[in-house]
Amino acid sequence: MTKEVLDSLLSNLQEFFKDDYSGHDFNHTMRVYKLANNIAIQEHANLEIVSLAALLHDVDDVKLTQSINYQNARLLMNRYGIDKATQEEVIAIIQDVSFKGNQSKSPSTLEGKIVQDADRLDAIGAIGIARAFTFGGNHSRPLYNDEKPERNMDEASYRQHQSSTINHFYEKLLLLKDMMNTECARVLADQRHQFMVNYLEEFFDEIEGKK
Ligand code: ADP
Ligand code: NI
Repeated sequence: MTKEVLDSLLSNLQEFFKDDYSGHDFNHTMRVYKLANNIAIQEHANLEIVSLAALLHDVDDVKLTQSINYQNARLLMNRYGIDKATQEEVIAIIQDVSFKGNQSKSPSTLEGKIVQDADRLDAIGAIGIARAFTFGGNHSRPLYNDEKPERNMDEASYRQHQSSTINHFYEKLLLLKDMMNTECARVLADQRHQFMVNYLEEFFDEIEGKK
């Protein structure tokens, strides 16, 4: 991708995500793009494929758009003259990236594994905590309640489940570190995971008025 293509694609994406407050805004895409590129350099992956898949991974998300057959990603790639073989590789990655409870899939290519790792890393750590509470506020969820967290849900139950934001940590966020595909991401995930564990400890101590 030339600098001109990248700049133009970024401004298209900025426009596309401008009204999103569901946790999939433009900054999420940029963080996934940067993280995926850093991992790709260390893992010697194809940077063009990783960049395109990271930048386009949410443009056809069912939560954001009615698009069918990845038409938004295809439209953008056609606009920039990306060849068909590259397009198909990118689409195959986007299909497998999303978290689907216990039906989650690991992409078959190294490039796909990296983009999935980067997307999942952005759901944990300091940013992950902020995104979770933003999502919870947006969906009128309580910070926490007495309900027991579910840990092993299929995709439909995961999507429908209306849990408190703290329960979301147990249903998803704390599971992600063991779902990383690449060694590089595992190291980053361990640090982000530990940060969340410490955060939860503080959180529960404060609920009990211990601190
Ligand atoms: P994906 O990006 O894999 O499609 P989601 O749409 O489930 O995942 O999540 C987008 C962001 O919103 C993530 O940071 C995720 O952790 C957060 N999120 C999703 N569901 C909840 C929930 N029930 N409570 C709090 N945060 C959530
Ligand atoms: Ni994403």
